[in-house]
Amino acid sequence: MTINDFYRFKKKVDKIAMVTCYDYSIASVIADTNIDCVLVGDSVSMVVYGYESTIHATMEMMKLHVTAVKNGLKNSKMIIADMPFMSFRKNKYESAENASVLIKAGADAVKIEGIDGHEETIKYIIESGIPVMGHLGLTPQYIKSLGRYSIQGKDEKTAEKIFSDAIKLEKIGCFSIVLECVPEKLATEITKKLKIPTIGIGSGKKTDGQVLVINDMIGLFPSSPSFVKKYLNLSEEIKKAMNDYSREVKDNENN
Ligand code: KIV
Repeated sequence: MTINDFYRFKKKVDKIAMVTCYDYSIASVIADTNIDCVLVGDSVSMVVYGYESTIHATMEMMKLHVTAVKNGLKNSKMIIADMPFMSFRKNKYESAENASVLIKAGADAVKIEGIDGHEETIKYIIESGIPVMGHLGLTPQYIKSLGRYSIQGKDEKTAEKIFSDAIKLEKIGCFSIVLECVPEKLATEITKKLKIPTIGIGSGKKTDGQVLVINDMIGLFPSSPSFVKKYLNLSEEIKKAMNDYSREVKDNENN
């Protein structure tokens, strides 16, 4: 999949299936699946490092995890990398420099949360030859000002703001937009209005694609959001394997 395929997907050839990934081993497995593209999300700071929010993700962290995922996927899937908290807020030149670090590490595109105050920066990054995926609705990097993780765009005013931001992001050249935790009605309206594909998470079924945090969907993260369908209960499988191994060691059955 390349950026051109995103537009093809919008014409309803198929829906886009995206998951997050942070390491080499899982990326090697994903390489042999029908997943369309992979997000090296700043959620890495929560699910891999155990921080309470994504604001602890750094450029150094993102660069290392993009490298690991690229090594596992080889060239099998398109990689989108999150620009971490504050990495696109200084000025457009330093922001583009940060985006280029992730591209050189193996990403094909970057994702940037929000738009207020960095619209020009997003435009400049795109004009520099780096594709940008937008991210609206619940933008976890803004958790300190949001106060809590909750559905965004429930009232008319906030819904209108998300709708007009989506139009702005399309206008400045984003190739796709993640809509996180917005009401299905709003996600549907935005999806119908835009020519670029929308990728939903906790935003209903009508978006052009879906994304999930892999640790949530495989049951490897203790505090997953309630909307997430678990396709596997890996923590239970791991516990069983650990206990089997431990018992065999103690019974002298292992080697
Ligand atoms: O960091 C992340 O995992 C994300 C997804 C939730 C879209 O941004």
